[in-house]
Amino acid sequence: MSFVLTDARIAPMTGGPLIDRGVIVVNGDRIAHVGHDLPAAHSGLPHHDLEGRLVTPGLIDCHTHLVFGGNRAGEFEARLNGASYADIAKAGGGIVSTMRATRALGADALTDQALPRLDALIAEGVTTVEIKSGYGLERDSELAMLRAARALGERRAVAVKTTYLGAHAVPPEYAGRADAYLDEVCLPTLDAAQAEGLVDAVDGFCEGIAFSPAQIARVFDRAQALGLPVKLHAEQLSHLGGTALAARYGALSADHVEYATEDDVRALAAAGTVAVLLPGAFYTLRERQAPPVRAFRDHGVPMALATDCNPGSSPLTSLLLAMNMGCTLFGLTPAEALMGVTAHAARALGLSDRGVIAPGMRADLAIWDVEAPAELAYRIGFNPLHQRIFGGAL
Ligand code: NIG
Ligand code: FE
Repeated sequence: MSFVLTDARIAPMTGGPLIDRGVIVVNGDRIAHVGHDLPAAHSGLPHHDLEGRLVTPGLIDCHTHLVFGGNRAGEFEARLNGASYADIAKAGGGIVSTMRATRALGADALTDQALPRLDALIAEGVTTVEIKSGYGLERDSELAMLRAARALGERRAVAVKTTYLGAHAVPPEYAGRADAYLDEVCLPTLDAAQAEGLVDAVDGFCEGIAFSPAQIARVFDRAQALGLPVKLHAEQLSHLGGTALAARYGALSADHVEYATEDDVRALAAAGTVAVLLPGAFYTLRERQAPPVRAFRDHGVPMALATDCNPGSSPLTSLLLAMNMGCTLFGLTPAEALMGVTAHAARALGLSDRGVIAPGMRADLAIWDVEAPAELAYRIGFNPLHQRIFGGAL
């Protein structure tokens, strides 16, 4: 399948300018040509006239917990009545309450429950989505979550990248024995998941209510021994040193990072680690401390944006709304927000074949009924997607 998109307004996300009245040649699942003119060699291909519509890379949601059982609307109500996220977690709710609902489901049911959430993302032009485990917290249930995530990629025309997040919370049967949980469950399950080919990256939750930097380092050591890249939920609710640890391990990304310091930012810059900003969680938990966006900008740390879709801190299935929140709550420019869900999101996943519109890249594209790229971040609750192209398929 090869074709040409004509009269396209192309936002290449390569650092280059917008291309007006441009053409994109799609050859199989790749982009063959991008520019103002159509080379003679391609002129015989079928044409699709985009009538001036904006074309961006297909959007990439680089941080989600899309697979889980149940919901936590009750905790939403409790927080509105004054309970904190940490209080709820300490009282046996939070991640552990989703753990119970998730353990009750097999991989097929987990896939079925996640499909409407995935469809909501796809409807807004998402072509790659990262999905984490971390609500099983026991071997079979963690593996079921990863299998469910991979199955989602079979059920829909979307690329799924799976991240093992066994170090998300200490399950009740190991209360007060986090290191024993790591030794007996988390690390052996990582080995098993990797042996089954289910893991693209390894994540952890470094926080007072979860794991210490020293414990996360043990998980990262195992990941590196298995040849897997790492990323980390760091500095979300307090400053514990997770960001510096992530940088030390050359992590793909440090995520949340509200409490990151200037030194942390320097460490991320030196390591080439992406800062993944998650305004949905900041908004839902009504946090006050925004991430140090200006410092990221000044030090050249690439900023990605993601939904963090999860039943507790970010029940958000709109990447466009995450872009809007990134601008309104964190002070990103609309151009930075678009970089954050394309080129920088690809980098946060270690993917060099997508996130920009250039020859040789995957033909994952989103075609929008808007004139200016800024309109994507500007609107609230409106979906201007005209068409999505995944792997060269309209
Ligand atoms: O990214 N911070 C840890 N993990 C999720 C929240 C998970 C939950 O509350 O269920 C997050 O915000
Ligand atoms: Fe998360």
